[in-house]
Amino acid sequence: MTPQDQSKAALDLAGRAPVIPVLVLNDVAHAAPLAEALVAGGLPALEVTLRTPAALDCIRAMAQVPGGIVGAGTLLTPEDVRAAKAAGATFGVSPGATDTLLQACIDEDLPLLPGAATATEAMILLEKGFTMQKFFPAEASGGAPALKGIGAPLPQITFCPTGGVSMKNKDSYLSLPNVICVGGSWVAPQDKMDAGDWAGIETLAREARA
Ligand code: 3PG
Repeated sequence: MTPQDQSKAALDLAGRAPVIPVLVLNDVAHAAPLAEALVAGGLPALEVTLRTPAALDCIRAMAQVPGGIVGAGTLLTPEDVRAAKAAGATFGVSPGATDTLLQACIDEDLPLLPGAATATEAMILLEKGFTMQKFFPAEASGGAPALKGIGAPLPQITFCPTGGVSMKNKDSYLSLPNVICVGGSWVAPQDKMDAGDWAGIETLAREARA
């Protein structure tokens, strides 16, 4: 899958909802009810970070939830790409980009949303054909003013800012012409998952979607 086709798929995915939940899951029992709550709240595209031992099993469980589009985040290596794909992930997200990782996504036909934090990083990805990128870590890299600045000379790149994005600041990003959606973990707080408060998470999703 070429970088151009990957970007097309990532753009389509990012257009489904203004927020992609970034999920750090420790308990596979949380996976299905969490996905159901987020989908019911209007957030169908879900990023499960490969940061916990339970992540791949969670992707497997969430891939069965109707209406959900499940991807794997924190992809760092070709092994991560292969494992994510085998578990049922239909897209990938990475904090940055290396040639090895980009090639693995081409080889495995996995649409990748690759991370960039500077104009140079964004240009390197653009040269390779990636017109849909993740701006990461968004707040620490200067937030919406920085992304607005990058957008002026590079309007052909569309971004999903992630990292430090919240209900409070999401609209500062979403109002930029080069932003289609944001990513964030705030819609799936650990305390609500531990309490099994799926209705509360559905409400957070609804608020994020609004
Ligand atoms: C992450 O790396 O965990 C994501 O970028 C989400 O960041 P957040 O927890 O600040 O939303």
